[in-house]
Amino acid sequence: MLEKIEALKSVINGLSATNKDEVEALRIKYLSKKGEISLLFNDFRNVPNEQKKEIGQKLNELKNLATDKINTLRESVEAGQSEAMAIDLTRPAAPAPLGKRHPISLVRQEIISILSRLGFTIADGPEIEDDWHVFSSLNFAADHPARDMQDTFFIQRSPDVLLRTHTSSVQTRVMTTAKPPIRIICPGRVYRNEAISARAHCFFHQLEGLYIDKNVSFADLKQTLLYFARELFGPETQIRLRPSYFPFTEPSAEMDISCHLCHGKGCGFCKHTGWVEILGCGMVDPNVLEACGIDSKEYTGYAFGLGIERITNLKYRVKDLRMFSENDVRFLDEFEAAH
Ligand code: PHE
Repeated sequence: MLEKIEALKSVINGLSATNKDEVEALRIKYLSKKGEISLLFNDFRNVPNEQKKEIGQKLNELKNLATDKINTLRESVEAGQSEAMAIDLTRPAAPAPLGKRHPISLVRQEIISILSRLGFTIADGPEIEDDWHVFSSLNFAADHPARDMQDTFFIQRSPDVLLRTHTSSVQTRVMTTAKPPIRIICPGRVYRNEAISARAHCFFHQLEGLYIDKNVSFADLKQTLLYFARELFGPETQIRLRPSYFPFTEPSAEMDISCHLCHGKGCGFCKHTGWVEILGCGMVDPNVLEACGIDSKEYTGYAFGLGIERITNLKYRVKDLRMFSENDVRFLDEFEAAH
């Protein structure tokens, strides 16, 4: 009897199971009414009285050992199963949320890619500028209102340090350092001292184009702008140039495109005119070329400048300019995912 008990003890210590059914089978094999341990208890009757105490103790130990063992096996099998469920390696991964490109970046990129196809390369310049690069070199008269505190953020008066009010300052920087032919686009942030509202902001984004070479004419400008407008707004787009004034271009014009919503028929968006204004342009004033050290008898050039927010509004009809700088994720999520 004692030997049997010892043998069963070591068997029970070595038991293992991989699932609930196996644990249950072990329980039946050892602990049920007809299980091996219960049978030993039945045999207990035949044990001589003087051994009863010792064997009884051992039998109880064996029963407790088996009960504990089977309970721990059950627990570990259950824990193992739920763990396996929690990390099911065959399940497809949860999709990682993709960030979106900002609408201003999307439109800027689209404009850059169109103009790059025409041979324009990107030029960059500082946002913190001086009066000469932003105004004087660009033929602004000393008393021009744009220089006024009302429009310009001055950081310091003397020597003058200010935030650029347009990207035309990059033209100046390139013209004073590079030799023609020059064919550049300058995208960038500009600042104006405006009260912030749905229709105006104290900073926004512009993109300026400049082409200087021998024999550049207004016809070249017009053809470039027509190509640009059709690439951006579709092949049916018409353009219209209206005489205008900028200190740094002569002649100057403002360009309208046929309203891309009503195709020129007239709608609420184009205020029933059939046209919407998209940019300013003109032939670079000879005074500007000379101020930047370029011989205006040998070279001519054209320039154009547009507001990226304005083009973005035309494409996506964002009603409030402030949306562009508030970074509300619900707004940003409306746009295309980053590739
Ligand atoms: N710099 C002008 C502006 O800020 C735009 C412009 C650029 C007009 C180039 C003509 C030529 O309004």
